[in-house]
Amino acid sequence: MSTQFHSLIVSDLRHETEGCVSVAFEVPQDLQNQFNFIAGQYLTFKVNLDGEEIRRSYSLCSAPYEKTWRVAIKEIPNGKFSSFANHNLTIGAGLEVMAPMGNFKFEPNANAQNHYVLFAAGSGVTPIFSILKTILIAEPQSTVTLFYGNKGMTEIIFREELEAIKNRFLDRLNLIHIFSRENIGVPLLKGRIDASRTQKLLRAFLKDQTINGAYICGPQDMILAVKDELLAFGVAANQIHFELFHAAPIVTKADDNTPKAAAFESHIELIMDGEITNFYLSSDGPSILDAAYKAGADAPFACKGGVCCTCKAKVLRGEVSMDVNYALTPEEVEQDYVLTCQAHPKSSDILISFDD
Ligand SMILES: Cc1cc2nc3c(=O)[nH]c(=O)nc-3n(C[C@H](O)[C@H](O)[C@H](O)COP(=O)(O)OP(=O)(O)OC[C@H]3O[C@@H](n4cnc5c(N)ncnc54)[C@H](O)[C@@H]3O)c2cc1C
Ligand code: FES
Repeated sequence: MSTQFHSLIVSDLRHETEGCVSVAFEVPQDLQNQFNFIAGQYLTFKVNLDGEEIRRSYSLCSAPYEKTWRVAIKEIPNGKFSSFANHNLTIGAGLEVMAPMGNFKFEPNANAQNHYVLFAAGSGVTPIFSILKTILIAEPQSTVTLFYGNKGMTEIIFREELEAIKNRFLDRLNLIHIFSRENIGVPLLKGRIDASRTQKLLRAFLKDQTINGAYICGPQDMILAVKDELLAFGVAANQIHFELFHAAPIVTKADDNTPKAAAFESHIELIMDGEITNFYLSSDGPSILDAAYKAGADAPFACKGGVCCTCKAKVLRGEVSMDVNYALTPEEVEQDYVLTCQAHPKSSDILISFDD
């Protein structure tokens, strides 16, 4: 996995909706292999804004067969990077970008005859759009149902492209818009995508249909509700995939009197790009990522919230615990991968590698 940043030039900017800009990049020939991606993956950007280094991840909304690299960035009120991208980015500007990564992936099989169900809300449509296009082009015998939630018609990102795709694949794509603030005369399609609406949508549109894979992206509560309803509808857990852009902070109770284990000092040996960095870290101290940084290792990261997997590393000796993990697959956890931004020592001697 390459964790280096590369300078890429912005080749196109498109205002998809009032608060969402899509940005395409020119990837030079010699970087194209490294920048090959799988539908659903994301890019990580690094910029310096007012003297502060900011890193953020954005899912690719282009599909691999399009041979373009485009992300769509929705402005968050007071959001540092999203406001910069929506108001200050210009064609020709350079941005530091890490090669695509991420576990939210759809790898097509040209012979498959599957039916997929996709759920997106707001900017969560970005990786879903890449997956949708990939299914329709690279799995010619498969069908898709997309449920896409927005406040109203004008908030639909990729509206014209979605309409064009729908018209082109009339018999293979069922596109259902749900509006939380606009009434189109169908009560089922008015409101948020919560548990009760998901249950009704599944019954109304997918009764007796096989679902071979489900992909969800949107706010955390919507993802959890849709996931639970899909499970209850009979979709196997390993067929349900989701991407979280932002996790609600974990609230610890002020009156939590659970006895805490005594803190201890751990020796950490960290391998990155073949170089070894040694440092000591208390089990109740900062994360292994933050400590590694302090010790001089230029370890990769983006969200620092356990939702991307940019900071992934493998524990080769010793044990660590994670505060949260919204990004690693159960298989990766089984293979001793951890999110270093969430990791703390559980043993006194740890060997951890970003190179494995
Ligand atoms: C794997 C991955 C893929 C992503 N893909 C996309 C994408 O395709 N398009 C896209 O627009 N965003 C995407 N994001 C979210 C993106 O990385 C940023 O978190 C988001 O743009 C906010 O960054 P900011 O610097 O503008 O806001 P910040 O300055 O970081 O935050 C400002 C405030 O908004 C809150 N906040 C931060 N992010 C969110 C959020 N997503 N929703 C609600 N509140 C938030 C913060 O807690 C803070 O209070 C993705 C995130 C991940 C982890
Ligand atoms: S930096 Fe995103 S999970 Fe650690």
